[in-house]
Amino acid sequence: MSKKINWAILSTGRIAHEFAECFPKHPDAVPYAVGSRSLEKAEAFAKEFGFQKAYGSYEELVSDPDVDIVYIGTPTTMHYENAKLCLEAGKNVLCEKAVTVNKKQFEALCDLAKKKDVFFMEAMWLPLHPTFIKASQWVREGRIGEVQIVKAEHAFEHPYDPTDRGFSKKLGAGTILDLGVYNFAFADEMFGTTPDKVNIIGRLGPDGADIDSQVQLLYPTGYAIFTMGYAFTTKANTVIAGSKGKIQYEDIYTGAKDVYLYNDRMEIVETYSEEKGWVGLDYELESVTECIQKGLKMHPVITWDHTLEMFDIIEICKAQLGVDYEEYELL
Ligand SMILES: NC(=O)c1ccc[n+]([C@@H]2O[C@H](COP(=O)([O-])OP(=O)(O)OC[C@H]3O[C@@H](n4cnc5c(N)ncnc54)[C@H](OP(=O)(O)O)[C@@H]3O)[C@@H](O)[C@H]2O)c1
Repeated sequence: MSKKINWAILSTGRIAHEFAECFPKHPDAVPYAVGSRSLEKAEAFAKEFGFQKAYGSYEELVSDPDVDIVYIGTPTTMHYENAKLCLEAGKNVLCEKAVTVNKKQFEALCDLAKKKDVFFMEAMWLPLHPTFIKASQWVREGRIGEVQIVKAEHAFEHPYDPTDRGFSKKLGAGTILDLGVYNFAFADEMFGTTPDKVNIIGRLGPDGADIDSQVQLLYPTGYAIFTMGYAFTTKANTVIAGSKGKIQYEDIYTGAKDVYLYNDRMEIVETYSEEKGWVGLDYELESVTECIQKGLKMHPVITWDHTLEMFDIIEICKAQLGVDYEEYELL
């Protein structure tokens, strides 16, 4: 019988709630402890999701010797400090995306994880989702020929709220860090390499966070084009178009339930559906629990190199749009 893994959640916000909802489906992942800046919030969260321990500070959470791994669900600008706290305490860490606001912070955390001999990973669920794996398999098998276009619209309308982490630069807002990370991983996987050129246009909100943008990536065999933002909601498809057919999702980012393979006459020749009724976070929780059970220090798919490649694109986009997280860029 495999060892059960004691999970801790650091923070009690929206994604922490979504992650906590997954635990009943994963018997080896124990909802063990939660830490919040407020003991009251931690206790309410622990009661709602059946966590055994509730702590009123992140420091107390990471001091618990029975915590096997910490999931960090704080705003993006906090990730570097929070992950450093956990790694220094010798904890394995799964940290929400974007894992940090820049590449040098991520490299510093990887060095620390290596020194402490613990697991460290950006919480990037998309490449672990079965429909993503199926689409990638179809591409590798040559079912759509040479990949020429990867296109997705990834936009959700939110009423403007300067205090929300979706808009506030101090909380790490911006399409590049919030949504780009998924799109860049998607394009690199489908083209099977990194882009030769990156170009972004976009609009900055009042405090300088990128509230919408369009990114073009040039790969050896074609282009990826992504539209991202918070001003409007897109109902458009996600498409991987090749010389012999195409692969289409209704919406890869919110549901990703079904993926369709078309031939060159634009007829559907195969459909693949996610079967367990799990969301992306379920696949992540299951897979990371297995990594900890096996004593791995790095996820076999979401490797540090994978995340570093994403940062190469992120850094170019940030520079082109003039997005700078100021004091949060520091180590
Ligand atoms: N993987 C996904 O599908 C996905 C989806 C949405 C968001 N995310 C990522 O998850 C992270 C959190 O997003 P969210 O939407 O959950 O944010 P949120 O609802 O604002 O929650 C963030 C939580 O972080 C803690 N926190 C610590 N310092 C804070 C500060 N200075 N201001 C506000 N909160 C602070 C708070 O918990 P306590 O008060 O309990 O300490 C708060 O509840 C972001 O990095 C985002 O990119 C990932």
